[in-house]
Amino acid sequence: MTDHDRIPHAPLAGVLGWPVAHSRSPRLHRHWLHRYQIDGDYVPLPVAPENLEQVLRALPRMGFAGANVTIPHKEAVLKIADIVTDRASLIGAANTLIFRDDGKIHADNTDGYGFVTNLTQSAPHWHPESGAAAVIGAGGAARAVVASLLEAGVPELRISNRTKLRAEQIKAEFGAKIVVYDWAQAGNMLEGATTVVNATSMGMTGKPPLRVPLDALNRDALVTDLVYTPLITDFLKEAEQRGCEIVDGLGMLLHQAAPGFERWFGQRPEVDDALRDAVL
Ligand code: ATR
Repeated sequence: MTDHDRIPHAPLAGVLGWPVAHSRSPRLHRHWLHRYQIDGDYVPLPVAPENLEQVLRALPRMGFAGANVTIPHKEAVLKIADIVTDRASLIGAANTLIFRDDGKIHADNTDGYGFVTNLTQSAPHWHPESGAAAVIGAGGAARAVVASLLEAGVPELRISNRTKLRAEQIKAEFGAKIVVYDWAQAGNMLEGATTVVNATSMGMTGKPPLRVPLDALNRDALVTDLVYTPLITDFLKEAEQRGCEIVDGLGMLLHQAAPGFERWFGQRPEVDDALRDAVL
């Protein structure tokens, strides 16, 4: 791409999805743009899968500095991007794209960063290395959680999923610290775990409830849920009743957005209560 191809105006970013109307990312990034008085915009970009590559190649020429990617494009962008970070390729999905000045598309995955940063900010006493982690679910979001928990130093990572093969695939790719539990035994993996995560969509408004029994849950476990509608899920409520510290999933959404915003708009944004209120 030459300099003439870049349109000199306020930087733009957006979120590519299909559908994308439900995305909270525009509200989130616009809150930051307003707060830091940056002359730019962040827009929803509804793009059908068959048009993804063409749109991605065109966006830099329209003044876009980058984009977020959501369902169903998070895996497909890896094949289109020119540069894929190690963590995005390990996770098998990207959520943040940077359009470089040389025309290359750089793909990264900040979901795991958002997950761990949410825990360290919300629960400063949390020590991932203090005990086993138990992850319920083995989908795309779970893969980002697994990658980030291993990087944070958990000594053992237990995982259980309705479709066991997906959990076994994670073990095959992420290594010896992973222990796979049968779905019927998911409750057993909570015993002695100090970090417990629901990484399925169960418990979300309109979806079936999460039925994993919490009897084996330790009082000193930190329990978190990636579901944030409702903000406090039944899973979190029950964990709290059992004396556990809980962290809701909204913070992960907020924190995963920060690295992209910084790259596109040149300002490291802060995740605080005003942002939470704006997004809720
Ligand atoms: P995401 O990107 O949000 O992780 P996903 O890859 O579709 O989305 O994964 C959804 C997760 O929720 C999976 O772990 C899925 O289990 P399967 O792999 O067996 O599909 C889990 N999930 C969704 N609905 C479920 C249900 N009713 N019972 C059990 N697990 C469910």
